[in-house]
Amino acid sequence: MNIVVGVTGGIAAYKTVHLVRLLTKAGHDIAVVPTEDALRFVGLPTWEAISRHPVTTSVHDDVARVRHVALGQNADLVVVAPATANSIAKITAGIADDLLGTTLLATEAPVLLAPAMHTEMWRNAATQANIATLVSRGVHLIGPAEGELAGGDSGPGRMAEPEQILAATLELLAPRDLEGLRVVVSAGGTREPIDPVRFLGNRSSGRQGVALAAEAAARGAAVTLVAANVSRDVLGEARHPSIRVVPVGTAAELAAAMKHASTEADVVVMAAAVADYRPASVSDQKVTKELGGLSSIELVETEDVVAALSAARGVGRAPAGQTIVAFAAETSESADERLDRARRKRERKGVELLAVNLANAGHGFEVGHNAVEIVGDGGTVVASADGTKRQVAQAILDAVVAVR
Ligand code: CTP
Repeated sequence: MNIVVGVTGGIAAYKTVHLVRLLTKAGHDIAVVPTEDALRFVGLPTWEAISRHPVTTSVHDDVARVRHVALGQNADLVVVAPATANSIAKITAGIADDLLGTTLLATEAPVLLAPAMHTEMWRNAATQANIATLVSRGVHLIGPAEGELAGGDSGPGRMAEPEQILAATLELLAPRDLEGLRVVVSAGGTREPIDPVRFLGNRSSGRQGVALAAEAAARGAAVTLVAANVSRDVLGEARHPSIRVVPVGTAAELAAAMKHASTEADVVVMAAAVADYRPASVSDQKVTKELGGLSSIELVETEDVVAALSAARGVGRAPAGQTIVAFAAETSESADERLDRARRKRERKGVELLAVNLANAGHGFEVGHNAVEIVGDGGTVVASADGTKRQVAQAILDAVVAVR
């Protein structure tokens, strides 16, 4: 998507550098439009390097391509971060004496402002009236947050964090094609206890499942995220009023939570790495060498949760029209072999879609990106995606919308 990031003259401009980086990493094309004043805080070379595009503040550059209106016309979204009190006043009045001003007047895309100013300036009646006017015109706001401000003051006026602005941006760009649907996503990896201090686990961080939950919520779904041992850090990306998190530990806990949540779900996405086996017995004392140690563990099979969910459809309370997506992390280097296994797995589990990825060192687990092929009806590859886990989530939910 084409995103214009307007930067106005506030100290928080240094945080916008990180925002531009996050947006670029998320696969968007960013045109940074700073005001002259913004360049006092962060210089032109930084914006050009970080956005990988030439940057100007002036309406008189690139006149042949009518840059002063083209940027706004071509934008899918305009973000102004930081938006100072002065810039908010100018935007409200429609003043277009620089490139950011003309871009904002020329755009029909959604506009998101991240205000940043001193508390008194934020609370001032003029600013509040301007904000009320802008909101009534459909302009979106993120923040300001309460916190430490320049000069040691504290109060509302601090610019929202780049990660929060990114989340708001992705939400505004998302299609609302899951509006009114209930989506259940499992994420993370189960841990099967051996004794009070040890477990059998796997390398899943939960990032792909969390990205699926965040994307589904952004598209309008009410989401239940069943999170198996997902770190607080990773779960932070699922902070959204439409996402309810159910933490679980073992495969049995995950099975119970998924069965409960799925009874009323329209879509179930099984992204968690579930243990196929658990220790047959769990020692209530730590197994020590003195107590005989541990040279082997007897294992018993766990329930195949996604197969059980699939079989429960149309029976009892689980809706017959529920769409289920499973995952397969395969380690074979051969793409054909991975696909063959995926096709068989899809049949075996009785699901509509199965997303298969290569999982080995540097791929799939514990990293920010992922590459999947999505196998659908008749074993055909209905889509593939290679990018950030959010982009992979978008492709999977696109496929879900297509099969429904
Ligand atoms: N899965 C599940 N319950 C289990 C194991 C796996 O619901 N006990 C789900 C996973 O969440 C994933 C899909 O099944 O969506 C595929 O998991 P995978 O471990 O690759 O499949 P297995 O059936 O274990 O097949 P194999 O061991 O042959 O790879």
